[in-house]
Amino acid sequence: MSVTIKSPREIELMREAGRILAQVHDELGKIIRPGISTYDIDKEGEKLIRSFGCEPSFLNYEGYPASICVSVNEEVVHGIPSRRRILKEGDIVSLDAGVIYKGWHSDAARTHAVGKTDDKAAKLIEVTRQSFFEGIKFAKAGNHLHDISNAIDAYVRRFGYGVVRDLVGHGIGSRLHEDPQIPNYGQRSRGIRLEAGMTLAIEPMINAGTWKVSWLDDGWTVVTRDGKLSAHYENTVLITEDGCEILSLL
Ligand code: MF3
Ligand code: CO
Repeated sequence: MSVTIKSPREIELMREAGRILAQVHDELGKIIRPGISTYDIDKEGEKLIRSFGCEPSFLNYEGYPASICVSVNEEVVHGIPSRRRILKEGDIVSLDAGVIYKGWHSDAARTHAVGKTDDKAAKLIEVTRQSFFEGIKFAKAGNHLHDISNAIDAYVRRFGYGVVRDLVGHGIGSRLHEDPQIPNYGQRSRGIRLEAGMTLAIEPMINAGTWKVSWLDDGWTVVTRDGKLSAHYENTVLITEDGCEILSLL
């Protein structure tokens, strides 16, 4: 396994990629409403990404057919946008997007409520988001990678939710997926030692019920086995000597 350390110039390009991706997510958040199709969300996302002079990194990645992964309710990740899938009041929708700016990647995901959701759905979205921030409290040169993983899992378990185990976060840079893999559970003091200049996509995927997931016949869409809701939150972060910098948030 080889984990790349980015140079100051590379970090500056990844900062710009992240800033752009943060804006793409902010804009996409504004169009989420009952009645919109997941296809329209993808098309708007692709347009936004290109308007910033970036390429959508997911489009055609291992055959994935869209720019934005749009996953509704019990869909965990990698939902395929469709004209027939119309969001309705009370749904939750996870948007995962990746951009390439001058050869450098950023990857981030947000989960939104569609109109008004019940308290249960809102809580899942908020705990999933917070679990990322609990994790990155340990994102710092000298710590172990799984200190982050353990913190995410420990926080989420308090709420009785299931932490998805079959999918993980990842290193990121001139490629979308680099070493190391970053599970959202694990033992403290395990995993590689973090170094300044590493860039990581940390992405808790949290289920309201069981952690177990299945794949649909389309070969992409991951769903919860029990049909309960799932949420996703992700940012690209830079490890520094005294902590980390979140690159894909404004
Ligand atoms: N953010 C996801 C990941 O990190 C989505 C990429 S899958 C793709 O793996 F195929 F849609 F690109
Ligand atoms: Co990712």
